[in-house]
Amino acid sequence: MTSSSSSLSLIFFCFMFRLISISDAIVPPNETFHYVNNGDLFFGNEYLIYDSEYAPTYRVLPPYIFPFRLCFYNTTPNAYTLALRMGRYRGATVMPWVWEANRGKPVRENATLSLGSDGNLVLADADGRIAWQTNTPNIGVVGFAILSDGNVVLRDSKGNFVWQSFDHPTDTLLIGQSLRIGGPYKLVSRESVTNNVNGAYSLVIEPKRLALYYKNDMRYWSPSFSELNRRNVMLANVTFKIAETDYVETYFHELEFGLVNARPRFAHTAYLVLGRIQYNSSLSYLRLGIDGNIRVYTYRRNVRTQAWTLLYTLFDKTENVDGGLIFEDECQQPNRCGNFGLCEDSQCVGCPTPNGVFAWSKDCDTKPPGCKPGGFTYYQLKGVDHFTVKYTAGNHFASRSDCESKCSKDCGCLGYFYHTDNSRCWIAHELKTLTRVGNSTHLAYIKTPVR
Ligand SMILES: *[C@@H]1O[C@H](CO)[C@@H](O)[C@H](O)[C@H]1NC(C)=O
Ligand SMILES: *[C@@H]1O[C@H](CO)[C@@H](O)[C@H](O)[C@H]1NC(C)=O
Ligand SMILES: *[C@@H]1O[C@H](CO)[C@@H](O)[C@H](O)[C@H]1NC(C)=O
Ligand SMILES: *[C@@H]1O[C@H](CO)[C@@H](O)[C@H](O)[C@H]1NC(C)=O
Ligand SMILES: *[C@@H]1O[C@H](CO)[C@@H](O)[C@H](O)[C@H]1NC(C)=O
Repeated sequence: MTSSSSSLSLIFFCFMFRLISISDAIVPPNETFHYVNNGDLFFGNEYLIYDSEYAPTYRVLPPYIFPFRLCFYNTTPNAYTLALRMGRYRGATVMPWVWEANRGKPVRENATLSLGSDGNLVLADADGRIAWQTNTPNIGVVGFAILSDGNVVLRDSKGNFVWQSFDHPTDTLLIGQSLRIGGPYKLVSRESVTNNVNGAYSLVIEPKRLALYYKNDMRYWSPSFSELNRRNVMLANVTFKIAETDYVETYFHELEFGLVNARPRFAHTAYLVLGRIQYNSSLSYLRLGIDGNIRVYTYRRNVRTQAWTLLYTLFDKTENVDGGLIFEDECQQPNRCGNFGLCEDSQCVGCPTPNGVFAWSKDCDTKPPGCKPGGFTYYQLKGVDHFTVKYTAGNHFASRSDCESKCSKDCGCLGYFYHTDNSRCWIAHELKTLTRVGNSTHLAYIKTPVR
């Protein structure tokens, strides 16, 4: 009897407590909203001064703070993305989409974006089906805001962010935005200009490295930091920042890495310097592009034309080491020379075949080798590396034939790469761009069907 009444009162107490916390947390009526995706469409074409990335049609929503505006845009008819646009028409250059809510889950005409009194921000399609939401009902949200750094936030009564778009990046980082271990840990590229779904490339923070991947597991770039070679030292986060140099009026765009367990006499941060500029633009963004490249663009206020400039490109034509900036040869990009092409000094120079290397064309490809033992053979290319070789260790195999037999037993293996000077072996499930390295100890063996 006693125990049942005490559990009853406990339930009652919890119920009361919940009522109190809900009534505390309600979004005041003037802070709630309900926007419908209908009405006039803008066109981002060359005749109009309003021009947005991917040349979509779009509708602007009321929430705005210079230079950020929430919009619905579509690159294919009746498939809208809710996104944050950066720039204003006076800039007269293409305005990028720097955050997106519903990549891969487009909504139609008459979809709604609403913040109800419960504090949940919901994007619902015309039929009421929820396409995207912040999952924040009844946890203390009292208001919505776009901040001047481009962070879209839901605040509680103490001003803390219950939810923020900075924790849900797509392919873009704004100044001050981070990737974190145990938090938002990656950017994923967009598939194509017209198709807004996840593409093949990702930028990922891991305890021991920041890395670019093709199809989740094929690493093609990773900067090295000597401090990370120590066993206990780990990355905690990487933040896109702008910092002033020691020189007059020069500002660096950089990635700042937070380290844990760094030796006290060393800094607890490491830096990768990206671009240098003569003015402090806190309005810049870093983009993992459709092509798997990383670029930094910066926005200049108070100019009438050319507000956006491309400040930095990771895979750049000229491997420039000017001022400690990090660059890579374009040949490191998996898709630089299409499905199967030979690359040298950022140029596509050849199309390997069993009968020799022919002139490059974007249609260069291999013939499917099949899986039947005896149905395929290999041809050799000398002085050639796969795009994964530079930033992955491969396996140690005593001999080339061990490496080959691993590829032969693996139906999905399209070829293997072997370094005779240190007996390392890489198995390739995708060939893509091969890089000429002018080192005869680096050998490629490409599977080909027996005629
Ligand atoms: C809602 O009302 C409060 C109190 O009057 C005010 O401080 C706040 O700015 C208003 N919010 C909006 C979005 O108008
Ligand atoms: C959107 O809603 C309006 C008003 O209810 C309606 O007139 C219109 O036909 C709808 N549009 C579409 C494409 O369903
Ligand atoms: C750049 O300007 C912003 C304000 O616009 C300021 O908060 C920031 O500290 C400045 N950064 C540097 C490195 O001067
Ligand atoms: C990054 O990690 C470091 C080390 O844990 C920490 O001190 C710093 O506050 C973190 N910075 C951000 C922006 O999260
Ligand atoms: C070939 O590459 C190896 C490292 O893989 C290096 O030690 C060697 O010096 C290179 N040889 C030439 C001729 O560049």
